[in-house]
Amino acid sequence: MLVDEAPGPQVLRDATVEVVVEVEAARCVRIAVQPHRETIVIDGRGMLPAVLVTVTTWSLEITSAADLRPVDPPDTVEIRRASLASPELGRFLYTAAGGNWYWVDRLTWTHEQWVQRLSDQRVETWVLYQDGTPGGYFELDGRAGRDVEIAYLGLMPTFLNRRLGGPLLTAAIRRGWAMGAGRVWVHTCTLDSPSALANYQARGMRVFKEQTEVVDLPNEPPGVWPGAGIHGPHTSLTPASTT
Ligand SMILES: CC(C)(COP(=O)(O)OP(=O)(O)OC[C@H]1O[C@@H](n2cnc3c(N)ncnc32)[C@H](O)[C@@H]1OP(=O)(O)O)[C@@H](O)C(=O)NCCC(=O)NCCS
Repeated sequence: MLVDEAPGPQVLRDATVEVVVEVEAARCVRIAVQPHRETIVIDGRGMLPAVLVTVTTWSLEITSAADLRPVDPPDTVEIRRASLASPELGRFLYTAAGGNWYWVDRLTWTHEQWVQRLSDQRVETWVLYQDGTPGGYFELDGRAGRDVEIAYLGLMPTFLNRRLGGPLLTAAIRRGWAMGAGRVWVHTCTLDSPSALANYQARGMRVFKEQTEVVDLPNEPPGVWPGAGIHGPHTSLTPASTT
């Protein structure tokens, strides 16, 4: 049921329970279940399914270092590995770079899950700094041996459109080879920045798989932190055709 409707109670009944759903305001819902007389308030801001969207996902790979079309970073940029497992840093980078683009899979990760992921020596986090300021990152997953995945790669909103995407990706692919990869691969989708696919292809990566599915999404991405609002470039959704 979509709940972004005009405020007012609705009563749904079946043989055993009565459910009262009141929409108090956009995406703030009060649900009372009888006979248990429990009231659950869900402030689902940004997280309630509201729109059906068609999402296309592309998987890309590069299998030879000779195929890389590199871009060097400007002098103001440094890209360094964060070698110590820091769940706080990991979550910060993930939400800061991905909050405008529906990176939501890890939002519910516990501290332990972050520690576990980042403590794995085959998982590497690299941070891009411009003039000493963290502006983006990539995470490499080398757990599959010679197949190294760029699990995440992104710039924070204020660092977009500065031609830093090319140098960041160049560093990720080069590091993949240095980790012993025979193949570096990544996936991106239509929820990511429109520059993402172009950036991968511009560096010499080739699409080896494409798939399209319809998914339920909140009608706006979560933003860089709860309540921050959406500022700067972000995904804007086109609802899927229901015909
Ligand atoms: C993907 C991302 C790193 C690219 O960085 P960017 O600042 O947007 O893009 P850049 O200005 O650095 O351009 C990168 C390359 O993409 C290509 N490109 C960008 N916009 C393009 C466009 N409109 N048309 C064609 N090519 C384009 C260019 O080849 C450019 O390379 P060049 O510098 O050699 O010309 C950045 O958009 C980002 O972090 N987005 C949010 C998170 C995300 O979507 N990550 C990808 C998840 S897989």
